[in-house]
Amino acid sequence: MKTKIITLTKNNPDNQKLKIAAKAINDGKLVAFPTETVYGLGANAFDTKAIKNIFKVKGRPQDNPLIVHISDISQLLDLAKEVPLKAIKTINVFWPGPLTIVVKKKKVPSIVTANLDTVAIRMPKNKIALDLIKFAKTPIVAPSANLSKSPSPTIALHVINDLFNKVDVIVDGGACKIGIESTVVDFSSKTPTILRPGAITKEALEKIIGPVKVGYDLKTKTPKSPGQKYKHYSPKAFVYLVNSNNFYKEANNLIKRNISKKIGVIFYKKNNCCLLSSKNIYKKPLKDNKDYAKNLFKYFRYFDQKGCDIIICEKPKQTDIGVAIQNRLKKASSCII
Ligand code: TXA
Ligand code: MG
Repeated sequence: MKTKIITLTKNNPDNQKLKIAAKAINDGKLVAFPTETVYGLGANAFDTKAIKNIFKVKGRPQDNPLIVHISDISQLLDLAKEVPLKAIKTINVFWPGPLTIVVKKKKVPSIVTANLDTVAIRMPKNKIALDLIKFAKTPIVAPSANLSKSPSPTIALHVINDLFNKVDVIVDGGACKIGIESTVVDFSSKTPTILRPGAITKEALEKIIGPVKVGYDLKTKTPKSPGQKYKHYSPKAFVYLVNSNNFYKEANNLIKRNISKKIGVIFYKKNNCCLLSSKNIYKKPLKDNKDYAKNLFKYFRYFDQKGCDIIICEKPKQTDIGVAIQNRLKKASSCII
């Protein structure tokens, strides 16, 4: 298969080109496209054959359900059997945006939902994604457009590296604004429950709908969000997650102990002065949590490309999107210090 790459920019949205991608969706093909969180690998949400192909191309386990992306509220009503009041209040504030709701499903193919009686739905805040859905005139299922287990793609080059000549179209729309995946909230049970943390925080949700539970730290073998049981987001290197209190001391100890190895370090800028340097150490200082979210997966992929054996990450501050970054880092890391 030969992948067609379509390049779009904010100043050159070029609907004609995007309509080619929409036609590919209608023809049962796979199209990678940008969203505000990460790139998605899209197919028509009602085309079982195309969806089977998504699982195959990604190497994704069949029991991990997909998110259905919509561009218009009327599509929600086609997919959901019921939308509880708290879900309506929440999407009123956060859609389009990095929020996925899980609700009881209506007519959604079972391959999308891994045979669950619920469906995950999201309206992305990205003009290319929204127009693609509009032009295709169908909801689009899209997992992150990476090979299963590797870090999610945040620029088109990441998608090209993982999926070139394995998918039909890649729409290059530049860098994703947020950089980590959407918050997934289950509204199908009595108290809304966060199944995966993201840019929309527990506090922000609680301001609108009152108490919200956290479901992603449970050590259960069958979590409600099947995706949470898989090792994810991992670079090839061994990842250390190091506490902020003593960061540069602990990081320098690790560097000294692994002096012959290539090492990547992600840390808040203030520690820059005190970290050891050498040509084998690749440093990525961060301004703040937003910067951390936007660049985490990009830096993971960069360090892998440089052949790093070890990656040292400073634990993110547990404010705003920091909770979600920590969630991804815990899954990616082999050792927490
Ligand atoms: O930001 C995002 O959400 C990106 C962009 C492309 O929209 N998509 C994404 O998809 O991260 P994926 O497939 O990598 O992750 C979907 C997550 C998985 O953890 C999956 O288990 C969960 O959503 N999920 C999907 N349907 C579900 C359902 N019915 N019940 C519970 N969890 C569900
Ligand atoms: Mg994913």
